[in-house]
Amino acid sequence: MNGQKIEYEKINEIKNSVDIVDVISSYIPLIGKGKNLFGVCPFHDDSNPSMSVSREKQIYTCFSCGATGTVFTFLQEYEHISFIEALKICADKAGIDLNIKNYKEKTKDSELYEMYEVASKLYQNNINTNEGVEAKEYLNERNITDDIIKEFKIGLALKDNKLTKLLKNKKYDENKVIKSGLVVKNGLDMYDSFYDRIMFPIEDASGKIVGFSGRIYKKYYDNKPSKYKNTTETEIFKKGEILYNYKLAKEEARISGSIIIMEGFMDLFRAYSVGIKNVVVSMGTAITKEHANLLKRMAKDVILCFDGDSAGEKATYSCSNELIKLGITPKIVRLEENLDPDEYILKYGKDKFIEKINNPINVMEFKMHYLKKNKDLNSTVDMSEYVNSLIKELNEIDDDILREITLKKISNESNLDIEFLRSKLETKEKEIRPIKKIEQPKTNMYIKAEQYLLYYMLNNIEVIKMYQNNIGYMPTDKYRKLAFEINYFYKNNNYINVSDLMISLKDEEELINTMKEINILNLKDEYTKEEILDYIKTIKDYNIKVESKRLKDLMKMELDPIKKAEYAEKILEINKTNCEVGE
Ligand code: UTP
Ligand code: MN
Repeated sequence: MNGQKIEYEKINEIKNSVDIVDVISSYIPLIGKGKNLFGVCPFHDDSNPSMSVSREKQIYTCFSCGATGTVFTFLQEYEHISFIEALKICADKAGIDLNIKNYKEKTKDSELYEMYEVASKLYQNNINTNEGVEAKEYLNERNITDDIIKEFKIGLALKDNKLTKLLKNKKYDENKVIKSGLVVKNGLDMYDSFYDRIMFPIEDASGKIVGFSGRIYKKYYDNKPSKYKNTTETEIFKKGEILYNYKLAKEEARISGSIIIMEGFMDLFRAYSVGIKNVVVSMGTAITKEHANLLKRMAKDVILCFDGDSAGEKATYSCSNELIKLGITPKIVRLEENLDPDEYILKYGKDKFIEKINNPINVMEFKMHYLKKNKDLNSTVDMSEYVNSLIKELNEIDDDILREITLKKISNESNLDIEFLRSKLETKEKEIRPIKKIEQPKTNMYIKAEQYLLYYMLNNIEVIKMYQNNIGYMPTDKYRKLAFEINYFYKNNNYINVSDLMISLKDEEELINTMKEINILNLKDEYTKEEILDYIKTIKDYNIKVESKRLKDLMKMELDPIKKAEYAEKILEINKTNCEVGE
């Protein structure tokens, strides 16, 4: 089950053959020259360049949200991919052969992933057997060709409990099998959850199967079940965080510059069958912040093409609001006659649909139409309600031109003076938000000394040596652990730098967090030996204080006068060694 392990040396070789500045600047524009470059941080909502990328340290640090890490963590976070995949991207850039075909990352959910793979293979096999003929016919009738079936790994669940048997034979833990949602338990018996359904595997952003959705297809069912059935939500499958077809669409969206969101699987497949591939599917759930975040990174233009019915209209409205909150101004396509994209293409053909997609309306136009519904604009009450709500919506829009166009339209419709309407808008002065410093916990001088010392230890072997020669021990637990790791890394490698240490500790969450905390201090690069000795002296002082307090407490409790005297002597002793520090 466990694949080969990738050597730390290999990882390092790959890291050293790419420059974090090149990699990050292929995603976001970086400004500045020299050691540190700056860009708008993609990990929080901002328009200020609060992220710095250090060529020297090969790390990025956002001074606003605190995001920090190596070239690999950047790719992982930005692309929503695993460490191995990030490694692969860099290896490809550097032309290094990373033979990872058989590599399986061992995560706490790896058994879940494996079970979904097993299920997917079985389902895909089923659809190509005699028992899959009716399902194939159903799909082909809907223009879902064998190529699409293959590409989307569409399969078939039969009523044979085969999956349950298969998973049992593979000796997966019963609780996990149940948790996967693929199998149900009734008393002592276990059954396949899905049968007589066409199965669509659902993949996460990195292309791993995390669940399934099954659609009915037979002409006759005993009791007609619900149209779609999904596997239960788990840590790895949350409908609100997944966009169906994200991985394939990402490339297409980059090429075309736009991404289209639809509601249903069938809409996607129909669009695919006429060559429109920059499509993701929200699977019928409301668009969440997580969805919007994924979309934001796919393309500049986000086009909503939901069902033509009033539910689809309502969903379009709430989805636009979610996107606008995140700074995306979507474009809208509305389909007539209550048709969904699938039905529309079927009825009016590919060309007419493409024409619609190429001519979306702007979101304010859509909202004007939406908010006008059920209102009588000849009534002054309705009209003033309508104008008020539009102004409120318009306030959320950043695009100046769109604001202006809409103001003009409202003015025409309401006969109100455009200047008057403008005065109702909040002025959108380009607010220069000050870069807010990450709040550091309140520190006393000892903590500060530990942090500063660690900061310089992370970048200079000279400081590590001074630490080793003088104290070798930090009072605060998490700082002591980090200091230990720094020493250990230095001992093994004979050098130190933040990014390499981060990579070697990548699975140690607590240590990584401490490193982030230290790194964000962003101290000046130069230091003097006096400064360092000062921090060391402070820490030493503190260590002595703590130790003599401990001894004093022991002494107080001690009844035996001889032992009492021994303690007293010890206390004198350590206070005498008091703070001699040197290089
Ligand atoms: P639709 O009813 O629009 O489905 O629901 P569709 O894809 O157009 O399917 P056809 O054309 O009727 O065959 C939109 C999406 O909502 C989810 C599915 O992901 C579906 O694609 N859904 C729908 C469910 O999860 N469960 C349901 O019972 C219905
Ligand atoms: Mn449909």
